[in-house]
Amino acid sequence: MKITVVGAGNVGATCANVIAHKELANEVVLVDIKEGFAEGKALDIWQTSPINLYDTRTVGSTNDYNKTAGSDVVVITSGLPRKPGMSRDDLISTNAGIVKSVTENIIKHSPDAKIIIVSNPLDVMTYVAYLSAKIDSSRVFGMAGILDTARYRSFLAEALDISPKDIQAVLMGGHGDTMVPLPRYTTVGGIPVTELIDSEKLDAIVERTKKGGGELVNLMGTSAWYAPGAAAAQMVEAIVRDQKRVFPVCAWLQGEYGLKDIYLGVPVVLGKNGIEKIIELDLNADEKALLAESAKAVKDVMNVFDNMNK
Ligand code: NAI
Ligand code: 2OP
Repeated sequence: MKITVVGAGNVGATCANVIAHKELANEVVLVDIKEGFAEGKALDIWQTSPINLYDTRTVGSTNDYNKTAGSDVVVITSGLPRKPGMSRDDLISTNAGIVKSVTENIIKHSPDAKIIIVSNPLDVMTYVAYLSAKIDSSRVFGMAGILDTARYRSFLAEALDISPKDIQAVLMGGHGDTMVPLPRYTTVGGIPVTELIDSEKLDAIVERTKKGGGELVNLMGTSAWYAPGAAAAQMVEAIVRDQKRVFPVCAWLQGEYGLKDIYLGVPVVLGKNGIEKIIELDLNADEKALLAESAKAVKDVMNVFDNMNK
């Protein structure tokens, strides 16, 4: 098994580190455009192997895609991160150019790869990768929902003083402030969360989740990486181990939830073939309205990209 991570910055290096640590592949290739940067990060990660006791090889490459040839899964994290005051959408033009060229190089050398996009604005960058890769949408998808749901679950765990392991949740929509956490589908050890927390506290947690990325940008001056890197690695694990995990993933919708020709976060089954199934929940009227609002926000940014390319 061979995995490539493009972008050896904060998220990419963290993701490669988790992949190596968990021995999800024989080889992890880190690629970056900055001379020597990926080689350095890869060497540093590899030097943790005698300490952390794993044997996954970590290799770096400055933009040489020959080294990525035959990858089974590719994670694309290359692009600019958010700075304070920037929305994810501000990144569109720069990151679209980067994601397009990276995807074309990847598919040329690894035509059978499953491609996970992390670069922002996430939903639209996943669309850019899909257009550039020209492969089935079941093999091109984006990471956001696992991260956003993890934030939501971690806030709930803290508020309830309960292990985060016991909190199950799903969150839908775009990776932005219109994302749709779903309290109705949130349980704590099988108990509906609404039975354990009052609605005011739950609403505050939902609001904090929606702004979870911005909270970290404001604290650190750049966007987060530990949770994003771990979330992308969890998707890699589901694919390489054919786990058939149920995760919220940014997927290409063709009529599901009444939405068409849009990349949006929905629950899916993730296994060796990539997205093996999109799960359609029976949303109530309020949830449908929130999802429609989120889809509109994503579609608006997709249109910005489409108009730039006319
Ligand atoms: P970073 O700046 O630490 O790393 C980005 C790396 O990409 C840099 O090392 C840069 O040299 C490299 N790069 C730029 N152009 C390239 C190219 N053409 N080929 C190869 N490498 C190239 O940024 P960070 O924090 O790792 O974030 C990466 C991206 O992930 C950003 O767009 C950020 O907004 C996004 N992100 C998305 C999340 C999500 O939930 N989907 C969560 C966190 C970050
Ligand atoms: C995050 O949610 C900014 O998308 C990035 O941390």
